[in-house]
Amino acid sequence: MTQAKKAFITGITGQDGSYLAELLLGKGYEVHGLIRRASTFNTARIDHLYVDSHNPDARLFLHYGDLSDGARMVTLLSEIRPDEVYNLAAQSHVRVSFDEPEHTGDTTGVGAMRLLEAVRLTGLHCRYYQASSSEMFGATPPPQNEETPFYPRSPYGAAKVYAYWVTKNYREAYGMFAVNGILFNHESPRRGETFVTRKITRAVARIKAGRQSELYMGNLDAIRDWGYAAEYAEGMWRMLQADAPDDFVLATGIGITVRDFLEASFSHAGLDWQKYVKFDPRYLRPTEVDALIGDASKAEEKLGWKATVAPDELARIMVDCDIEALEHGDGYIDQPRLSGWPLHSELRRG
Ligand code: NAP
Ligand code: GDD
Repeated sequence: MTQAKKAFITGITGQDGSYLAELLLGKGYEVHGLIRRASTFNTARIDHLYVDSHNPDARLFLHYGDLSDGARMVTLLSEIRPDEVYNLAAQSHVRVSFDEPEHTGDTTGVGAMRLLEAVRLTGLHCRYYQASSSEMFGATPPPQNEETPFYPRSPYGAAKVYAYWVTKNYREAYGMFAVNGILFNHESPRRGETFVTRKITRAVARIKAGRQSELYMGNLDAIRDWGYAAEYAEGMWRMLQADAPDDFVLATGIGITVRDFLEASFSHAGLDWQKYVKFDPRYLRPTEVDALIGDASKAEEKLGWKATVAPDELARIMVDCDIEALEHGDGYIDQPRLSGWPLHSELRRG
């Protein structure tokens, strides 16, 4: 009998980590995830995947650790000996990175180097995925692809540029199979509540239910290329199955403004967004990224990956899930939301 492949995922409790864990378990992998010790449980996005480790069927294992602790990365990798490492952990909020620049640089930037160095020190021949970001392009106008120069506009963007280059450097210096997935914004019903799409779709559900009457927002002119996160997890996996390590953009190629996303979300629930949305300068950033629209033709050509969910359709999916979540309380919906991809049970969180 061939042994199941082992994957190690940092950031497994986040949006992308939960979709990737589902995908890999579905493919028969043994999945190991890094979680941070907290005084409360923070595993809501993966609870539906967890089987007690005493059960012989258990294939998901969680380990305490933090990307700020390089020694822990070494001990964990030597114990687990994974075939594939996915580095998804980061302080991932751009606005917060202006408030916590040092912490963001330490985890989002140097954290990647700690993990790469741990792979090197343990001598593992595993494949490494780095969660790079379209935020690295920053002020460089769209369309952006793998050849577009970086011009980060936030401590987060700058930290991701460092992580990108250190990944490339370990590939060139030590012959590692280390790749950068340069992912444009991707969202889902599992998206963190302070990112703009989820903030909007959650507010739509609450306004519709009479539980909220106003929504305070920042810059409505920003253009983003919003795709569906479950599809992007598939793209990450495909990058690590390629014959040779390379860097890839994943995006839908469609850019819409925050205002357009508001319109798509509110009108889907029969509401007029202009009656509820108010401006609050606290949500502006000291430097903004005006427009991100990706060109993912390399991923389509070399990996056979193409986004199928457009931003306006995504808005409708997220609004439906948030309305359903409010009606039924917290819990999981164990049914596929979209056809054409592996089953993804969607989170119900109010
Ligand atoms: P997310 O929901 O914010 O999840 C971030 C994850 O990182 C969480 O599991 C978090 O753990 C963990 N984490 C944070 N700091 C850590 C540390 N010091 N040590 C260990 N774990 C830590 O982010 P996401 O949307 O899933 O994104 C996944 C990755 O892709 C991130 O690196 C993000 O920057 C990058 N990315 C995201 C997008 C996007 O549009 N979603 C686009 C491009 C790139 P806790 O649960 O304990 O907080
Ligand atoms: N969060 C937030 N809240 N954003 C707002 C608001 C608000 O009230 N009002 C307007 N915006 C604008 C922001 O200024 C930004 O231009 C846009 O909405 C999107 O903001 P976010 O959803 O916070 O995402 P982001 O584009 O800054 O960053 C996300 O995408 C990156 C990839 O391009 C994050 O997921 C990053 O981790 C990721 O790398």
